Amino acid sequence: MGNSCHSSSSGLVGLFPCSTDSPDDTQDLGKRVAGYASPGDVFALVGPVGSGKTQFVKGICSALGVEERNVTSPTFAIAHEYEGDFSIVHLDLYRLESEDDAINIGFEDYLSSRVLALVEWPEIAVALLPANTLIFSFEHLEGEKRRIQILNPDIIPTTDAKTDDSCDVRRS
Ligand SMILES: Nc1ncnc2c1ncn2[C@@H]1O[C@H](COP(=O)(O)OP(=O)(O)O)[C@@H](O)[C@H]1O
Ligand SMILES: [Mg+2]
Repeated sequence: MGNSCHSSSSGLVGLFPCSTDSPDDTQDLGKRVAGYASPGDVFALVGPVGSGKTQFVKGICSALGVEERNVTSPTFAIAHEYEGDFSIVHLDLYRLESEDDAINIGFEDYLSSRVLALVEWPEIAVALLPANTLIFSFEHLEGEKRRIQILNPDIIPTTDAKTDDSCDVRRS
């Protein structure tokens, strides 16, 4: 990836903060993040229009076996559901005006232990987000550069279930 991702620490935290240089680059970052995603996870994606939230979702979904062309911004539909290696719901709360709107569309029901939830424009429903929600922030830098970081990396468990320590064959 032609971006400046940090790699000094491993796991999901080690990928951030990050800057990407193109839409494909942001999708590639999403593909790498997908390796750390499981059903029951909630990823809230914050940042202005055009900052790359949907490109990131395309990358996550395609790495999980969803055809990228099927992944589009659900701004008008509010929710898109995809079937990949597991179920994914892609929400965009941009058009909602209040937390009650979010409750009325069944926002909380979309967040299930069986589904990976990717939420663009989560701000209006922030009080409804579970404690395990990872917040990814997207910012425009100059040109096609985007800065992407996790705002609450402290909630990521340090023992990553996907890191197989049994592969560590160092002997004393
Ligand atoms: N580094 C980059 N990452 C993501 N998108 C980029 C980048 N550079 C340019 N773009 C363009 O910016 C737009 C991002 O759109 P999108 O992912 O839908 O943003 P959002 O969902 O945040 O509104 C797309 O038109 C994409 O081609
Ligand atoms: Mg979007």
